[in-house]
Amino acid sequence: MSIERLIANNRVWSKAKTEADPDFFARLALQQAPEYLWIGCSDSRVPANEIVGLDPGELFVHRNVGNLASPQDANYLAVLQYSVQVLKVRHVLVVGHYDCGGVLAALRRPGHGVVDHWITPIRELAIHHRAELEALEPERRRNRLAELNVARQVQHVAANPLVLQAWARGQGLRVHGLCYATENGELRDLGGSVGSPQEVKERFGSDVGAIDAS
Ligand code: CO
Repeated sequence: MSIERLIANNRVWSKAKTEADPDFFARLALQQAPEYLWIGCSDSRVPANEIVGLDPGELFVHRNVGNLASPQDANYLAVLQYSVQVLKVRHVLVVGHYDCGGVLAALRRPGHGVVDHWITPIRELAIHHRAELEALEPERRRNRLAELNVARQVQHVAANPLVLQAWARGQGLRVHGLCYATENGELRDLGGSVGSPQEVKERFGSDVGAIDAS
């Protein structure tokens, strides 16, 4: 696959878009107003817009190995702040996927790559859920860990000060957990979305991590 082929593909695509809707790119050039922030895995089989049938301008996207929303990741924080405070997205979608290499690696003995450092939170999560995971067949084990990881990242997003401040301002914002099946292309809503500190408390049993020290 050469770069020339990609450029040729792009010309075909932009021409088809313009023919179907002559003002499409002119409108996007003026403003983007996506309703959704997608936090997903870098895996090439999980292309965000394509899976959910959304056009350019409709989805703000952050991807990394294992779809982590790590509270100390400046890249994620910048994306979250811009999408919540400036774009005012209505939904944050944490999207994991089955058959995830990052999740599988977190179940194995760590290697020496940078990715082994990056997926440490998934490894810790696996250890936390060791009893449940060890009772499962290997394939189900890694897929269950992918789901647990999504729930954990939903919890991270919902406990983020940027999100808590948005809720305190009365901004409508829901955080959802989904998982994509690479084997058949189906996206599954894992349920339990949260849209307020009260819902976070009901779902995760904590006051978004706050311990009163007064
Ligand atoms: Co993955």
